[in-house]
Amino acid sequence: MRDVLTGIPGTLEVRDLAIARKGKALLDVPYLCLDGPGPTLILGPNGAGKSLLLRCLHGLISPDHGRVCQDGIVLNADHKARQGMVFQSPVLLRRSVAANLDFVLKRQSIPRAMRKQRIAALLSEGGLEGKARQSARSLSGGEAQRLAILRALALEPETLFLDEPTSALDPGATQVIERMVLRASAKGVRIVMVTHDIGQARRLASDIVMMQAGRVVEHGAAGQVLDAPESAESRRYLAGGLVT
Ligand SMILES: Nc1ncnc2c1ncn2[C@@H]1O[C@H](COP(=O)(O)OP(=O)(O)OP(=O)(O)O)[C@@H](O)[C@H]1O
Ligand SMILES: [Mg+2]
Repeated sequence: MRDVLTGIPGTLEVRDLAIARKGKALLDVPYLCLDGPGPTLILGPNGAGKSLLLRCLHGLISPDHGRVCQDGIVLNADHKARQGMVFQSPVLLRRSVAANLDFVLKRQSIPRAMRKQRIAALLSEGGLEGKARQSARSLSGGEAQRLAILRALALEPETLFLDEPTSALDPGATQVIERMVLRASAKGVRIVMVTHDIGQARRLASDIVMMQAGRVVEHGAAGQVLDAPESAESRRYLAGGLVT
């Protein structure tokens, strides 16, 4: 089904999206258009609906109403196959670090010799060169998060959704992940990422979606939303005040 097109590849559009549970609106987004090109960062207080929105954009949840379109077409299996998602608590296979990457590369039918090269390049990208043979389950939180992102990147996604990938990480590990995100974005991967870190939003975002109570209260260029927010909710959130 064709819909209104903005004409930019990878454009995600949300229309009349609604999810309610027990009479309470969890998500109510009449319209949102993510047309890049740089990273989109989603901000907002706990329970604002950020993770729910990400799951809808990735087709993991079917909304009660409304739809998500990519490039003007209702999200389908092909789109989903070209999207990657990294959850806040990454789930890694009970195998070595290299085997976790090999697993996804094998599924793409990449020959063994090429897989070895790709794994080496990916490990170097994430600063995990020395960890190839270590059990993935014994990695530190920051290392595991890096591996989860590398595994998602190994699939060469068009779009990568990241849900608070650095929330439990120290500044050094955060910096490594931010560099990975910026490199992926520079290579043309559309990044949609949730964070509570306003500094991170400033460092990474091209545009910012501000959410509260299931609604998008503001969406605009990062500089505008961070320095001259138009909504009272954004101003309160950025000021670190209570948003009720
Ligand atoms: N399956 C569900 N059933 C009922 N309520 C749900 C369900 N999934 C999410 N919610 C509720 O929807 C609201 C939004 O949840 P969501 O996980 O999207 O918040 P969030 O913005 O990601 O918050 P956080 O910053 O804490 O991660 C929350 O109040 C949550 O309890
Ligand atoms: Mg969340």
